[in-house]
Amino acid sequence: MSDPQFIPPPVAGALDVESIRRDFPILAQSFRGKRLAYLDSAASTQKPLRVIEAISGFYTSRYANIHRGAYTLSELATDAYEEARRKTREFINAEDEREIIFVRGTTEAVNLVAQTFGRMEIGTGDAVVISAMEHHSNIVPWQMICEEKGAVLKVIPMNDRGELLLDEYEKLLTDSTRIVAIAHISNALGTINPVRDIIELAHRKGIPVLLDGAQTLAHLPVDVRDLDCDFYAFSAHKMYGPTGIGVLYGKRKLLEAMPPYQGGGDMIRSVTFEKTIYNDLPYKFEAGTPHIAGGVGLAAAIDYLSSFSRDAIIAHENRLLDYATRALLEIPGLRLVGTARDKAGVISFVIDYAHPHDIATILDTEGVAVRSGHHCAQPVMQRFNVPATTRASFGIYNTVEDVDQLVNALQKVREIFA
Ligand code: ALA
Repeated sequence: MSDPQFIPPPVAGALDVESIRRDFPILAQSFRGKRLAYLDSAASTQKPLRVIEAISGFYTSRYANIHRGAYTLSELATDAYEEARRKTREFINAEDEREIIFVRGTTEAVNLVAQTFGRMEIGTGDAVVISAMEHHSNIVPWQMICEEKGAVLKVIPMNDRGELLLDEYEKLLTDSTRIVAIAHISNALGTINPVRDIIELAHRKGIPVLLDGAQTLAHLPVDVRDLDCDFYAFSAHKMYGPTGIGVLYGKRKLLEAMPPYQGGGDMIRSVTFEKTIYNDLPYKFEAGTPHIAGGVGLAAAIDYLSSFSRDAIIAHENRLLDYATRALLEIPGLRLVGTARDKAGVISFVIDYAHPHDIATILDTEGVAVRSGHHCAQPVMQRFNVPATTRASFGIYNTVEDVDQLVNALQKVREIFA
């Protein structure tokens, strides 16, 4: 039940969450007679009508393949796709549209950098620095290239709160470090990493930094020039856009020097059996027909997010995080995994009398959608000595009522298992 003493008062200029919820028709559903409390936005956010309608409108009246046709429809489709690139550049304040590479998602973005920049720069005895809280998509691509090249993967440790140890990080930066690749926000713990310090320390030694921003864009503003990161990777589907499209931002100088990732149509300027001349940026990295409608959906998601004040989004999610943290800590036997001082709207927890999968299954019977498991971050589970956690995560559409539904459902877990 809501305990009013825990509910921080809404601030002036707060989001109109009831109106936002009407933008997401999926949230109005009930399952098993229970109102849906969707608390799994870290896995994927729901999509507002504006995004759904942009995609269906594009297929209804503007669709054709792009960069190829001399006919009007193809030109309209090309304009829509390139408009998405312009919007993305502006959204993250990149200097140049050519620095925006469309990919399938964060995972492909990291693989692209590992297989191109990594293949070019990493040699025997070199090192790649990542952190103890990375998602598998920011571990395995680096492991693969390190194995191939005889390089080593070095890992920044974290403390019991789930905060990186910057003193230890500094020690890992040596003459043989070729790249640092770090999550901006941890999907499993919610930690917001001190990426400015991380970048500055690496740059002092001339080492480039890739940030995995999969969890960031829906929550915090990102200015790649202000951060001065060398690469930034993110997915549309975690920021109210469609699945199947994401972005790799890279500094132009680096991208120009990197070899292509995949070969095929669109990434070439000319092909003979003797030699292929590659296309210019960004097309050099975009072989084949891309997710054209995905680009249109991403542009609509950027427009949607940009229609709210970022401060209001942050205040709303912090308010829910604060309320939920206090309420969950009242539950006997519940322990939070990830208590960093700087956290986004992600709460991972374990309960000493129930397995996370059982918890998630019971929560589902109460209409509460959460994720349970290792969250594609098995080393995080090993570090905290748990097999898995249950994770609730917030988006702009979540309410105090959603948190109450979670807390009430956890009482049911207690009745069954304790
Ligand atoms: N990486 C996504 C998550 O954290 C799928 O759930």
